Amino acid sequence: MKKILNEMKLRLPAISTNAQVARTAVSAFVAELNPTVEELADLRCAVSEAVTNSIVHAYKEKEDKSSSFVYISARLYNTREVSVEVSDNGCGIADVALAMSPAYTTGDSLERCGMGFLVMQSFTDLLTVKSRVGRGTTVLMRKFLAPAGDDEGCD
Ligand SMILES: Nc1ncnc2c1ncn2[C@@H]1O[C@H](COP(=O)(O)OP(=O)(O)O)[C@@H](O)[C@H]1O
Ligand SMILES: [Mg+2]
Repeated sequence: MKKILNEMKLRLPAISTNAQVARTAVSAFVAELNPTVEELADLRCAVSEAVTNSIVHAYKEKEDKSSSFVYISARLYNTREVSVEVSDNGCGIADVALAMSPAYTTGDSLERCGMGFLVMQSFTDLLTVKSRVGRGTTVLMRKFLAPAGDDEGCD
């Protein structure tokens, strides 16, 4: 039976330094399952993209950023499954399928390349995006780690 081994919830102000904070926190949290170097790198990248999106896009119209937060909720399961949910209360996405298509960006074309969702998709096993305009966005990612002992662990 699938059981939760550990849980973590973070609420971070939507400022750029917190993409780094979020990915470091998630790597430390997942370390308990002894992931491979590659699995850890994949998760770090996917979390970074999701959190960066909330920081860069979700609150871009808001002048008062004091109540702009990114919420990260992670779980480890005894089945070696890791789930990470990244959510915000920002502007939301009108057309999620369009936003997820490669090279689509509403950001500054010099800084953004529209590959964030593609990275999240390819570096995790399951990706679900739910969004409501004016309410916010929730990105749920799941990754299934290889059985323990299959590869060298990464502490
Ligand atoms: N959390 C979010 N809130 C609002 N819009 C978002 C969010 N995440 C993604 N988007 C929208 O989806 C688009 C595509 O995201 P992504 O693939 O990460 O590319 P990029 O961040 O380079 O624009 C963004 O340009 C933005 O319009
Ligand atoms: Mg992005």
